[in-house]
Amino acid sequence: MEKTEPVKLTSLTTKGGCGCKIGPADLAEVLRNLPIATPNPNLLVGLDTSDDAGVYKLTDEIAMVQTLDFFTPIVDDPYDFGQIAATNAISDIYAMGGTPITALNIVAFPIATLDKKILSEILRGSGDKLTEAGVTLVGGHSIDDQEPKFGLAVTGTVHPDKVRTNAGAQPGDKILLTKPIGVGIYTTSLKNGLLSKDEIVYVTKVMTTLNKTAAETMASYDVHAATDVTGFGLLGHASEIAKASGVGIRIIANQVPTLPRTKELADAGKVPGGTKNNFAHVADVVSYPETMDQSDRWILCDAVTSGGLLIALPEVQADRLLGELQHKGVDARIIGEVTEENSGRITVE
Ligand code: CO
Ligand code: CO
Repeated sequence: MEKTEPVKLTSLTTKGGCGCKIGPADLAEVLRNLPIATPNPNLLVGLDTSDDAGVYKLTDEIAMVQTLDFFTPIVDDPYDFGQIAATNAISDIYAMGGTPITALNIVAFPIATLDKKILSEILRGSGDKLTEAGVTLVGGHSIDDQEPKFGLAVTGTVHPDKVRTNAGAQPGDKILLTKPIGVGIYTTSLKNGLLSKDEIVYVTKVMTTLNKTAAETMASYDVHAATDVTGFGLLGHASEIAKASGVGIRIIANQVPTLPRTKELADAGKVPGGTKNNFAHVADVVSYPETMDQSDRWILCDAVTSGGLLIALPEVQADRLLGELQHKGVDARIIGEVTEENSGRITVE
């Protein structure tokens, strides 16, 4: 048999990136301003609060949580890419306090030019993550396209009284983050051949870690607000909580966990365009310390794929949740707090 070089999936893409529910900031604004025909009282969470997923009440006991996400390959291994896409898509259900139940595949693939085995591996990776999350694949749709894209629409359930949205954070709450940031800078560096094998394994591990344990653990706490850190970056998603809750948020920069070489790679210029867009997008609502250099500011805005949960909960419960998460192997940290002053704003210290 003829031996061929494995295809580098990330070299096939023109533009990558994952947003939360409705994509990059500029596009999200268009989608969010869709005219809504008739307000429906069963729609508990819709487009207006920039939440992770839509929530629709079916009965007094059950609401349906729906989300969709797909993107171009951000790693070269197709199995890993499938796992990342599934972990990322399911995460928005966890971020709403829901339990994921079913999923549909969304596939775009250049069937004439790429080996079908690549697609099989993407689907196998995704399937393994769905199994781990207890999610049943019920179907999907595929089209022939110039570059590969993959993702899923995921449906879950939640009790209508237990929905965790961006709104509800209260002054005095602590802010927890359950995964390190720097993923966008790492995947850009990967594309440029700057990561070691171990570093690729590590960032892949971060992106393929389900937020299942974090979500199930936070379920027994009095969580006031939650989201997951994805395309808009830590400060982008934190500002959504600040805005929706009508509070200020203080982020202690040196408490924010980052992947080991994030600063070095950012200083070397490996900052993705999406991260710089995020930085510009939140510039009006974020105050940084004057002495903070530009690459540290970009890191806090770094566009993440399949990031951790960002959780606001009462100070008296924060240490206990932190301890329980760390005990279960979740890389959680307390990274800030909610303030009454500076409503809608983020203060980085
Ligand atoms: Co998303
Ligand atoms: Co999200």
